[in-house]
Amino acid sequence: MIEPLYSPDIRRYENGMRYRRCGNSGVLLPEISLGLWHNFGGADSLSNSFAMAHCAFDHGITHFDLANNYGPPYGSAEETFGCIMQKSFKPYRDELFISTKAGHDMWPGPYGNWGSRKSLMASLNQSLKRMNLDYVDVFYSHRYDPETPLEETMQALVDIVRQGKALYVGLSKYPVDVAEQAYRYLAEHDVPCLVFQARYNLFERQPEKTSLLLAKQHGVGFVAFSPLAQGLLTNRYLNGIPNGSRMAQGRFLKQEVLTDVVLNKIKHLNDLASQRGQTLADMALAWLLKDEAVTSVIIGASSVNQLKTNLKALQQPCFADEELLRIDEICK
Ligand SMILES: NC(=O)c1ccc[n+]([C@@H]2O[C@H](COP(=O)([O-])OP(=O)(O)OC[C@H]3O[C@@H](n4cnc5c(N)ncnc54)[C@H](OP(=O)(O)O)[C@@H]3O)[C@@H](O)[C@H]2O)c1
Repeated sequence: MIEPLYSPDIRRYENGMRYRRCGNSGVLLPEISLGLWHNFGGADSLSNSFAMAHCAFDHGITHFDLANNYGPPYGSAEETFGCIMQKSFKPYRDELFISTKAGHDMWPGPYGNWGSRKSLMASLNQSLKRMNLDYVDVFYSHRYDPETPLEETMQALVDIVRQGKALYVGLSKYPVDVAEQAYRYLAEHDVPCLVFQARYNLFERQPEKTSLLLAKQHGVGFVAFSPLAQGLLTNRYLNGIPNGSRMAQGRFLKQEVLTDVVLNKIKHLNDLASQRGQTLADMALAWLLKDEAVTSVIIGASSVNQLKTNLKALQQPCFADEELLRIDEICK
């Protein structure tokens, strides 16, 4: 059953959440944000989606990350969020920082994908309707489109802000050389890029040498997606592949990834986390947040329990030098 009336925890800003400035902007984002890629689709339990969104906001998570095609089916995570807006979050719109994206496959035909002005503008109009919103806080170009002039994609982002449909813009997964040009274009048009979104976790270190570095140099915020490597960096797969897990579903996290070598690394990391008195998930999140240039980590969760576990990462943010060395040794 969905609770018809939701009153958020009055202590939601005293529950341990910390907020970081997003690049050179004035905006603060929670160190932990919630992503709706999985578990908020039309095929998922609506009451669980409501419960997770409520739990997040009750713990000071103000940032919710979506995209046009999150589901399945495509669009349904935004519809679920629209329902949550309507029934629970409407009075708190000004406390929320909501992002969506366009650039991956969304609807049939030549305009439902990639980065043309036509595609981005149409997609955002659809997203606003699905989410019951007048505007989003950030609109992202979800990926670089090498077939569309960069100026066309960037000018569409600029115009979206001018139209008042997004307050800020962001980029996701752009190659660094293109991101640099994009940052310049946006800054020259008085709509500086607020935030860059990349996959960054203990097993995926590439951003340290590329996008995270560039974001720092340009005063752009940085948010890490899949900070738990889709669940690998938790205790989820320590003793096999549980029914209902993302790996058991096999669409986005393939069983082939869980080799003996990877499982061994997970076990060693898990041992180190236990020695620190933390879960592996919490250690993995705290490890990302030790760098001040990481504005926020966008986690996913399939239950309120997972969400609550992950929020404990904020309680133990520090690492001894030997622990950091040991982590690098295990992950290399
Ligand atoms: N810009 C982009 O292209 C892009 C791409 C990917 C993601 N994202 C954003 O990043 C968000 C997060 O991505 P993600 O879902 O891959 O993040 P993640 O935090 O790495 O993985 C989340 C999954 O890990 C498992 N998990 C989480 N906490 C756990 C715990 N305490 N114990 C055991 N298992 C746990 C759950 O999987 P089970 O279902 O197995 O329980 C959960 O769904 C997305 O929702 C989206 O907003 C953006």
